[in-house]
Amino acid sequence: MLAARAFGSPKVVIVDVDDCRLSFMKDLGADEIIKVSPIMQDVEEEVVRIRNAMGGPVDLRFECVGFNNTMTTALQATRAGGKVCLVGLGQSEMTLPLTSAAAREVDVIGIFRYRNTWLLCIELLRTGEIDVKPLITHMYNFTQEGVDEAFETSSRGGNAIKVMFNL
Ligand SMILES: *[C@@H]1O[C@H](CO)[C@@H](O)[C@H](O)[C@H]1NC(C)=O
Ligand SMILES: *[C@@H]1O[C@H](CO)[C@@H](O)[C@H](O)[C@H]1NC(C)=O
Repeated sequence: MLAARAFGSPKVVIVDVDDCRLSFMKDLGADEIIKVSPIMQDVEEEVVRIRNAMGGPVDLRFECVGFNNTMTTALQATRAGGKVCLVGLGQSEMTLPLTSAAAREVDVIGIFRYRNTWLLCIELLRTGEIDVKPLITHMYNFTQEGVDEAFETSSRGGNAIKVMFNL
């Protein structure tokens, strides 16, 4: 979301299954947040909600989960000629409505492990165009105890966004 803003996106809609993460993103400046369910049956209704929140079909979607249902809403909510960047690779195989997306010439763009983005990221941080400090919700010392606690905090989810270590 922060990168999308830095690149001038006039409207950013965040979609997630988790209330804590959604309200965090709303506080951080998302225009709209949408809670979805992990169930495939709800996909059609979710596509409508995403389009309504965006005020029309989506130009560009970053799909950061990589499951049947999330990638399906990504493809279906995106406008003809739009783009879906597949960031999250959750399932090794996904079943997708690819024909309908191809008929609308939706482009699927791949990226693996944020390859070749580091220089740009460092530049955005250096110039202050993006401030990632609010994303750091927890800090631990790099000790055995600290590491144990950090992983527990991270796996609990909830209000933990970025869990970091003091080195
Ligand atoms: C993904 O969709 C396919 C086809 O509907 C289904 O066989 C598969 O179990 C689904 N995977 C998950 C994790 O829901
Ligand atoms: C982390 O280490 C610093 C310096 O040793 C110490 O003052 C602080 O209490 C430690 N924090 C925690 C949460 O253990």
